[in-house]
Amino acid sequence: MSSSQSNELKGRVAIVTGGGTGIGLAIARRFRDEGAAVIICGRREEKLLEAAEKMGGGAGGVHAIRADVTRTEDIQRLVRFAEERAGRIDILVNNAGFMRFGTLEETGPAMWDEMMKTNAFAPWQVTKAVLPAMRRAGGGSIINISSIAGHKALPGAGLYCTTKAALQMLSQVFAMELAPENIRVNVICPAAVEETELAQPIFGPERVSEFYDVMRGLHPLGRNGKPQDVAEAALFLASDRSAWITGILLPVDGGRHLSTNRPPIKS
Ligand SMILES: NC(=O)c1ccc[n+]([C@@H]2O[C@H](COP(=O)([O-])OP(=O)(O)OC[C@H]3O[C@@H](n4cnc5c(N)ncnc54)[C@H](OP(=O)(O)O)[C@@H]3O)[C@@H](O)[C@H]2O)c1
Repeated sequence: MSSSQSNELKGRVAIVTGGGTGIGLAIARRFRDEGAAVIICGRREEKLLEAAEKMGGGAGGVHAIRADVTRTEDIQRLVRFAEERAGRIDILVNNAGFMRFGTLEETGPAMWDEMMKTNAFAPWQVTKAVLPAMRRAGGGSIINISSIAGHKALPGAGLYCTTKAALQMLSQVFAMELAPENIRVNVICPAAVEETELAQPIFGPERVSEFYDVMRGLHPLGRNGKPQDVAEAALFLASDRSAWITGILLPVDGGRHLSTNRPPIKS
């Protein structure tokens, strides 16, 4: 897909949760490049401010607010902030999320609560909070960032798989319920995406590149993804080019959803 600019989102307002780093940052930048006003949120204010400044700040149409999407009062503040700064909400990208490893047997209730709350409960809450503004705008596009883990059983990542599977079904039911109001809900399912912070707390900065070296070989297209690969798909789903598409689970994964991880058999 090309990354040319055509002001496709001119006049639109987008919220991108977790927009200070990685995939969220690339989506925020791509939307801004297409003329949208963008509100980014996360828990680390300094990361957000740095990201917003790099994108031109308020003058460039990018506004940052510290908000933890697992906290109801923060979500309300986020939505109020977006409407005050930009006047409307047309697009929501539920991107904030995190991953930890461990077998299901090893996984404890505290991690279950935290990951479910961030990866599935928060998108439900943020979606509910933006609906009044989307209705006033006459419709909207909601894009949820899941993972290949939402439809592949990955041993050692069972809780992450479970949270993303929940996010996918939540998205599809919302898609059905909101379709009569012209509010579309779609899901992007990436495989391994480099240049993000996702794997850092698991491996530490030194071993992250080893992890991505191993992952590279699992993608039929022969490389890991970049945040920009996901941003291009998000732009399509945010724009009117996808006006008749709702409820899809779009793999953006170098073909990994097809992979059996077995070597080709030669006769
Ligand atoms: N990278 C991959 O290989 C990959 C593959 C498939 C799917 N994904 C999904 O892509 C999404 C983005 O992840 P990423 O890869 O770009 O990793 P990332 O760089 O770690 O981005 C995650 C972002 O979410 C924010 N966040 C986390 N918890 C939050 C909370 N409670 N409230 C508000 N913001 C929160 C983080 O900021 P703060 O810490 O400052 O809050 C961070 O900016 C995630 O949903 C992830 O599951 C990633």
